Amino acid sequence: EWGGQNFALFCFSGCFSAPPVPALTTQGEVRGTLGGSVSVPCQYQKVYQGNPKYWCRGAEWSTCSKVIETAGLEAEVKRGSVSIQDNHTLNTFTVTMENLTLGDAGTYWCGINKSGRDRNSRVNVMVLPALSTAVMVTTGSL
Ligand SMILES: *[C@@H]1O[C@H](CO)[C@@H](O)[C@H](O)[C@H]1NC(C)=O
Ligand SMILES: *[C@@H]1O[C@H](CO)[C@@H](O)[C@H](O)[C@H]1NC(C)=O
Ligand SMILES: *[C@@H]1O[C@H](CO)[C@@H](O)[C@H](O)[C@H]1NC(C)=O
Repeated sequence: EWGGQNFALFCFSGCFSAPPVPALTTQGEVRGTLGGSVSVPCQYQKVYQGNPKYWCRGAEWSTCSKVIETAGLEAEVKRGSVSIQDNHTLNTFTVTMENLTLGDAGTYWCGINKSGRDRNSRVNVMVLPALSTAVMVTTGSL
């Protein structure tokens, strides 16, 4: 029986303290359907409330291209089918991509513009065929 021992070791790493809040965190992967939309919440430390936030596309953070950005305010910014809105109460900014096409699938990054290195957190956006399309294809082949 080594369960009790395990528990004791586990408690050394801080059973009674909350885990530190990451500087910027999001979901590793989001899935949307063709023609549908996805919303990606990017949560940040309170200290970055007033900083510009952005959404960047590309396999590598160092070479990604900015899709849309805020001015550090809560006002929604919209560009084509992509929008971004910060919420200083929740310390979260949300990126929404609407009317998804297969071309929208790929790697994106939540970013925070700050002095020194910008903060980032990676997200994979997957675009799946709509359920109705799959049903139609199945029906059609019968
Ligand atoms: C999404 O597509 C619909 C239908 O084609 C269109 O009316 C709407 O303006 C589009 N929305 C955006 C944000 O592109
Ligand atoms: C921020 O989130 C809170 C809680 O959901 C909501 O009440 C508030 O309206 C939001 N603020 C903005 C600017 O969207
Ligand atoms: C960050 O903000 C500074 C000052 O506004 C600006 O010059 C710079 O281009 C921004 N960087 C990014 C990656 O948006």
